[in-house]
Amino acid sequence: MHQEVIIHDIRRHGCDPADLRSELVSGLLETNSAKYIPSLLLWDEKGQGHFEAITSSHDYYPYRAELDLLNKESETIVETVESGTVIIELGAGNCKKSGVLLQALHRQKKSIAYFALDVAADSLNHSLSQMTRMLGNSKYISCQGLLGSYEDCMSLLEEEEQRLFRNHRPLFLWLGNSITNMAWETSVNSLRRLLQYPKSQLLASIDGNENTEAIQLAYDLPDGKIRRFVRNGLNHANRLLGEDVFSESDWDFESKFDAVAKEQRLYHVAKRDLSLKVDGNFLSIAKGEKIHAITSAKWTAVEVDQLCAAAGVVVKSTWIDPFDNFGCYMLQR
Ligand SMILES: C[S@@+](CC[C@H](N)C(=O)[O-])C[C@H]1O[C@@H](n2cnc3c(N)ncnc32)[C@H](O)[C@@H]1O
Repeated sequence: MHQEVIIHDIRRHGCDPADLRSELVSGLLETNSAKYIPSLLLWDEKGQGHFEAITSSHDYYPYRAELDLLNKESETIVETVESGTVIIELGAGNCKKSGVLLQALHRQKKSIAYFALDVAADSLNHSLSQMTRMLGNSKYISCQGLLGSYEDCMSLLEEEEQRLFRNHRPLFLWLGNSITNMAWETSVNSLRRLLQYPKSQLLASIDGNENTEAIQLAYDLPDGKIRRFVRNGLNHANRLLGEDVFSESDWDFESKFDAVAKEQRLYHVAKRDLSLKVDGNFLSIAKGEKIHAITSAKWTAVEVDQLCAAAGVVVKSTWIDPFDNFGCYMLQR
């Protein structure tokens, strides 16, 4: 039974089906670099379920390492968070990690308005009702949802800054190494935009693991959970295109670490020569050709400093897990 939760639909660009469809078509027709399917296609309701299954695998160390770090350090992390702060979590998922921080804020008797942003409405509703239940009837913490993309959220904040932040300091949570799923320049630009508000802070969790064997195992789990998660992107693509352009049996999966870029890249790989009909155009795909699905970068404190320098922000505090080198970084201008 779900508890009643308030979710504001802030979608305007980026994650509605029409926009996603046109980005999908341009990614498939790409001729200058590798073809791609927008990674947002992985995060429909089914994708959220697949990811939830991944998080329960012991070999998927990023989830475990981050949760352990937050459980250990939550009291210290939230010490600098003032009462009256508005917390916006980007890509909240199941809200379990932010739940650890909100419980610590509750114990510290700080008044917080928490907003969980994500793109899958039912999952967001489910996560928030669990969070509300877990916090009991906290008189300190209020929880609401924002249905939309990172871009929707950033544009809304830029337009309504005066109204939203006049009396409140914003804290953004960007957990789950999600800031590394995008191109470096996009991450830099997002940090710049999110930390433009007076006294704003951003807590980013970033995976700095340098053990390539552990990374490879985590991103190609022997039980096939990662494959199923990525493969679901093809089904979502078919739904958006309105026909079965991709047949699962034509595609393999590749998950490979690029040691120079420090990126784990996940691809669909054609098993045979294919001719796909996309929007009336015939698209030839040669056997072995790859379509990019998602990337997860591994940034240590060194790369995080470089990212911050490029965005004109600084790392105020750092918490690092000594086993997997997973870091939580409090950033500000
Ligand atoms: C790797 S999961 C992390 C979930 C959660 N923060 C955690 O650490 O367990 C990424 C989450 O971000 C959401 N997401 C991915 N891209 C997004 C975008 N462009 N805008 C909004 N949410 C996005 C996904 O739906 C998913 O719930």
